[in-house]
Order: sequence, then C-alpha cells, then structure tokens
Amino acid sequence: MAMGRKEPREPRLAARLLEPGPVVLVTAQYRAHPNVMTAAWVVPLSLEPMRIGLAVHPSRLTHELMTKGEYFTLNILTLEHLLAIHLCGILSGRDVDKFTRAQLHPVDALEVDVPVIEEAVAHIECGVVARLSLGDHDLFVGEVLAVAAESELFGEWWLQLEEAPLVHHVGAEWYAALTRVVRARVPSEEEEAQEESER
Ligand SMILES: Cc1cc2nc3c(=O)[nH]c(=O)nc-3n(C[C@H](O)[C@H](O)[C@H](O)COP(=O)(O)O)c2cc1C
Repeated sequence: MAMGRKEPREPRLAARLLEPGPVVLVTAQYRAHPNVMTAAWVVPLSLEPMRIGLAVHPSRLTHELMTKGEYFTLNILTLEHLLAIHLCGILSGRDVDKFTRAQLHPVDALEVDVPVIEEAVAHIECGVVARLSLGDHDLFVGEVLAVAAESELFGEWWLQLEEAPLVHHVGAEWYAALTRVVRARVPSEEEEAQEESER
C-alpha cells in the first residue's frame, strides 16, 4: 500500500491510535544515535494531559536512550511491515543498525529531536515525565507532544483496517492482524419491543 502523508492531529487522539492495542516501534535517541525497538506493553494513562505508559526492560538499549535522551516516539506500522516489526524486537541496537537491517527510514519528527519512521501510518511523540520501577520492567510515562496520522486510515479512530491491518503480538514469532471494524449498537426501546413481538 502506498504511503500517505501523515497529518498533525490533536494530542487526545493518541489514545485512539492505541485503542486497539497494536504493537508499536519505539524510537529514542541520545547524542545523534537513534535506535528503534518493538514494544507491545503500551497503554494510554491520561487524557488531560495526554500521557502514555510504556514498559521497557532495563537491558534494552532503548531504556538507556529514553533515560538519557528524555524523549521517545511511538510508530504504528501495518501488517505489510511485519518482518521489520519482528526484527526490531529480536535484534538490539547495541549489535546492529536496525533502521538499515529492517529497511526503515528515520525522518524528522514534528516536535521532538528523535526521528520517527517514514513507513509508519501514524506516530506519537512524547517527552518522558516519569520513570517508575514496578518490577523487572520500568514504566516510562510519556507526555504526548505531537501526533500525526494518515487521514484516510485514521479519523477519530482507525477506519480502514481491511486495507491497513494493525499488528498485535500473540507470543514468540506469532502475530495477529486486526482487519475489521464492527459496530456495537444498542437497540432502541421500539426495536427491542418489535423483536420481542416477533419471537
Ligand atoms: C512483539 C514484541 C514486543 C515486545 N515488547 C516489548 C516491550 O513492550 N517492552 C520491552 O522492554 N521489550 C519488548 N520486546 C523486546 C525488545 O523489542 C527487544 O529486547 C529488543 O531487542 C530491544 O532492542 P534494543 O536493545 O535495541 O533496545 C518486544 C519484542 C517483540 C518481538
């Protein structure tokens, strides 16, 4: 699928970008050395201000870069980039330049001095406002500074999952694709009465 232009969006829409729980690619940078890592443990935490939590193990290079650099971005890629998503989750930036290996292109973000990924259909830029040690992973709390999304795919929520499926992690090298949006509609009282009379 051709890459569309990402339009800047309101910070509150970061929650809607993450609503289906897709796997994201996290970028972080310190002293002009950027890195990219796959993450599944991502959660919206607050709307006002818009804040997102990301659990990162201290062994990751990304942990060090987020701690020193104080900014990070979350990039949402669709199923066509599954191999890149997987590679960034099994290789470390300590050993290999993952942008080159996974054929991902770092480009300037809107607000922060950390590159975002050109192949992403949406991205969220954050500044680190807290880091909590809660167990073997640390929870980084990021305040959303900018959001961009392709408007054909994302309005107030994800619209075109058939065309651009989101990727979810199941376990090990197994993933699932989110390919359909379905509407939950509460029937009106008349509709319920009608259904009752037809039974
Ligand atoms: C699908 C998937 C999801 C992952 N989610 C997380 C996560 O949420 N937090 C984390 O610390 N590591 C996670 N990992 C592991 C890191 O991506 C992996 O250890 C990576 O090699 C770290 O890269 P780095 O050393 O370049 O930062 C995940 C791996 C995969 C494959």
